Amino acid sequence: MTDIQCMAIKASKDDRAFQILDQKLLPQTKKWITVSNTDEAYEAIRSMQVRGAPMIAVVGIFGCAYDVINRTHELEAARLDPLCVTKYTWKNDTFGTSNSFEEASEDDLVKYLTDYAVSALKHVTKSRPTAVNLGNDVEEALAMIEKSREPWQQIGNQLLDFAFDKMTNYQHADTEIGANGVEWTRKQFGNDPISVITICNTGSLASPGIGTAFGIVTCLHAAGLLKHVYILETRPYNQGSRLTAFEAMEKELPATLITDNMAAAIMQKDKCLKLAIVGADRITLHGDVANKIGTYQLAVLSRVHGLKFVVAAPESTIDFRNKDFSTVTIEERDSDEVTKINGQQIADPRIKAWNPSFDVTPPKYIDAIVTEKRVCAPADIPNVN
Ligand code: MRU
Repeated sequence: MTDIQCMAIKASKDDRAFQILDQKLLPQTKKWITVSNTDEAYEAIRSMQVRGAPMIAVVGIFGCAYDVINRTHELEAARLDPLCVTKYTWKNDTFGTSNSFEEASEDDLVKYLTDYAVSALKHVTKSRPTAVNLGNDVEEALAMIEKSREPWQQIGNQLLDFAFDKMTNYQHADTEIGANGVEWTRKQFGNDPISVITICNTGSLASPGIGTAFGIVTCLHAAGLLKHVYILETRPYNQGSRLTAFEAMEKELPATLITDNMAAAIMQKDKCLKLAIVGADRITLHGDVANKIGTYQLAVLSRVHGLKFVVAAPESTIDFRNKDFSTVTIEERDSDEVTKINGQQIADPRIKAWNPSFDVTPPKYIDAIVTEKRVCAPADIPNVN
């Protein structure tokens, strides 16, 4: 396979860059932007032109892969025409055991490109600290590169193959999460259609396939089990109103947009509303779940109103290193995202705003965690096969 595409990413093995759909402009404008290296991927993730834990992971790895490929092409060009070496900024770098590019052996170039790839991958994981998928996938990529015996010309291609595989794996995982979610819902509520509520964007803009939590919503609709979906606006970044509402309309789902402070009221009003389905950016070994700010209050409200509360995420969202969030950074973003809407000042400019991007839902509020491999209680998270 030389080309791959999803709703938010287009890539080809024949190109020197890939494309991402600028999610900051949706739904009004569909603009694809070109990303050709680690720094551009880092910035697209940091600025949230691309977001959602699995999509961030794929974009980060694609950015590093094309970066290494572009550097490889520069090295190849310089080898063919030694006079042009002077035009490259890297000409004074160290190449393995050699201090000059001209004298570098094949092994020196392997070492140089391996180190280059490793530092690119380590750097891109810092773009957003809370979602763990990118960190987990980077660890796998690092292990692959460090034991690789490929010639230096192939290191970038090997990383690009890895990015393609990751994207395909996330697509398959989404499909399995959808199927597992439908099966679980049917067991809980039978064949009568139910209403569900969700937060943030967990659909095809957030994960390369049908999405995670919103993938389940889509599958419930396809199975005739969805009466209605309520979509929380998800201030301050409005992933719900800008992105999930758009995806719901594209997929022709029976959907209503509500602001975040309407969640309790709709739970009181709609007696068919029986299930909250949310995504996750990191699940720790004790089953604590970091997800979009507002998820925790949705969990507490769900318990009070007798709704089941389900978290949907691929296995790569599990942080097997941390029992809880005591040492994990919860990203805090610019206060402008709270005091302004679409760049328009709303609040008094003198007021300070707190803007944590995520909150942590304790396991006691979570009825089930649905992954591509299993549906389990939070306490069973460590027991993966
Ligand atoms: O800040 P975002 O938009 O990247 O946050 C995304 C979420 O919190 C999603 O719910 C989560 O990543 C799951 S995406 C499939």
